[in-house]
Amino acid sequence: SATPTREDKFSFGLWTIGWVGQDQFGGPSRAPLDVVEAVNKLSEIGAYGLTFHDNDLFPFEATDGERTKQIERLKAALEDTGLVIPMVTTNLFSHPVFKDGGFTSNDRAVRRFSIRKVLRNIDLAAELGAKTFVMWGGREGSEYDTAKDVQAALERYREAVNLLADYVTDKGYDLRFAIEPKPNEPRGDILLPTLGHALAFIETLERSELFGINPETGHEQMAGLNFTHGIAQALYQGKLFHIDLNGQRSIKFDQDLVFGHGDLQNAFSLVDLLENGGPNGGPAYDGPRHFDYKPSRTEDYDGVWESAKANMRMYLLLKERAKAFRADPEVQEALAAARVPELSQPTLNDGEGYREILADQSAYENFDADVYFNGKGFGFVRLQQLMLEHLMGAR
Ligand code: GCO
Ligand code: MN
Ligand code: MN
Ligand code: MN
Repeated sequence: SATPTREDKFSFGLWTIGWVGQDQFGGPSRAPLDVVEAVNKLSEIGAYGLTFHDNDLFPFEATDGERTKQIERLKAALEDTGLVIPMVTTNLFSHPVFKDGGFTSNDRAVRRFSIRKVLRNIDLAAELGAKTFVMWGGREGSEYDTAKDVQAALERYREAVNLLADYVTDKGYDLRFAIEPKPNEPRGDILLPTLGHALAFIETLERSELFGINPETGHEQMAGLNFTHGIAQALYQGKLFHIDLNGQRSIKFDQDLVFGHGDLQNAFSLVDLLENGGPNGGPAYDGPRHFDYKPSRTEDYDGVWESAKANMRMYLLLKERAKAFRADPEVQEALAAARVPELSQPTLNDGEGYREILADQSAYENFDADVYFNGKGFGFVRLQQLMLEHLMGAR
């Protein structure tokens, strides 16, 4: 059904529903949202989790007393509702001290402060039972190529995250890190701009097993990339630790629309992949379905909660559509005609190596490409049409 339950594992950032609608061109259009209200409301509409940056919960300049008070208020609300905190993240971007980055600022004192701010927040994440610690380096980057030594910056990034991994290991925390890529905004160019860059960087880390990625729909699409393809590669490499779902329409500023309100076809293939793309046709991902969107600044709080519900409903409707698509015998037949299942068959025979394939004359010497091709097509367009008809509810 399209009514969310806790089993669906839907979670929301406190900064999403709590975004008051300020932007580059104008002030806020909504009053601030209290964390207790956020927890109660999310619980009521069927979410299971809340995520937050340290400074979504308490201000940057909060005293220890104010910080503790907010944490206690959050804990009480979680207790009341049964909502959980699956992920925590750190704000290394709002205060102007971070204007050239946190872990990779040219200013060494800022880098040291950033590590300390994150370490403190890791303790809080562990205390609240979070399993994933997201790192979005929005200010790690530059506007001017001459102003940033990118190799040095990557080395400083590595230095910082290696230390964080030592810390969680020594503390015995059950916490893994997820790097969130984004190509630009707020920086002109951000380091680790796509999930592919992040995956490659992770391989250089000392405890790389503790690091995966938190890709965001819109961020890959801002780079003109296919989100479903990227997620498939992350799954293939065992690195999809978390996911930020939202909507984006084409290569432009970060729109953070409701999930499915951007590229709907790509949202369909994504949900189909997450829900049915496992080795036995079951779920390929069992982590939180986390929404990182912004309720448009045209909305009041009724509109905020409508938009929050819309994210979950879009996901569940797409899940239903994907199930119907898979179950349609005509689709099964079209998939087979398009040779989709054939790609799972290894290219080499059992035990075959280069000697054997070199000895196989049917593979080359006797393979007449013209005769073999004989003008035949793959029938992908028919399959695509069937998919769209399911997506539109026409079948
Ligand atoms: C953005 C990012 C952020 C991060 C968040 C968690 O474009 O602003 O998506 O919303 O997801 O900071 O680290
Ligand atoms: Mn975004
Ligand atoms: Mn965003
Ligand atoms: Mn995000």
